[in-house]
Amino acid sequence: MLLSDKAKALVIEKYKDSHKHRLAHIFGVAEMAEYLAIKYGVDKEKALIAAYMHDYSKYDDPKEAIGILKDEEIKECESYPFLYHAYLSAENYKKLLGNDLDIYNAIKYHVFGRENMSILEAIIMIADYTEKNRTYPSCIECRKILVEDNDLNLAIYKSLEGMIEFAKREGLKPHPKQVLVMEEYKRKVEEDVARRNNRWLPWKGKCEGYLSIWY
Ligand SMILES: [Fe+2]
Repeated sequence: MLLSDKAKALVIEKYKDSHKHRLAHIFGVAEMAEYLAIKYGVDKEKALIAAYMHDYSKYDDPKEAIGILKDEEIKECESYPFLYHAYLSAENYKKLLGNDLDIYNAIKYHVFGRENMSILEAIIMIADYTEKNRTYPSCIECRKILVEDNDLNLAIYKSLEGMIEFAKREGLKPHPKQVLVMEEYKRKVEEDVARRNNRWLPWKGKCEGYLSIWY
């Protein structure tokens, strides 16, 4: 049995009676994650395991974090309670399925990513925001950018912008790390645009004079 099938069976067992809408969301994330894994050359099996497990602890009692999460993580979760489920889901992946660090991180940081994410982490984070059951306008816009415009960096940037705007409208303050990730992806998008226009010259000033012929 594939580990991804085991992960799927675990969430079905957990949510089949009481949280059917959560199950539909998880299947939507798995579908999008698999699609993106193929598109960006990431291990499909890893993407599926992370997708199935990413919300495993969505409704778990935050008290379960005691003795499992580090003290500083619990402190962080007290200020940003939506992080509990991601951190606990990652720990449950480790407890129930395996110890692949990339899968663990993809689950742990799926809410708004983190700086210098791996592609697997980026895929799970954006799959969560753009899976087919998401109907919020910003999610639909990001799905279009991802699927029709094939622009992963722009989709991630726009998703973070959407999340931060949503948080502000709700009177919540965005997590400082979330703002840093958004800024990182803004830079990536600017670089992509410059590269497309052949104006991205990171070597500028570093290699002048190295050639003995003139160009
Ligand atoms: Fe989710």
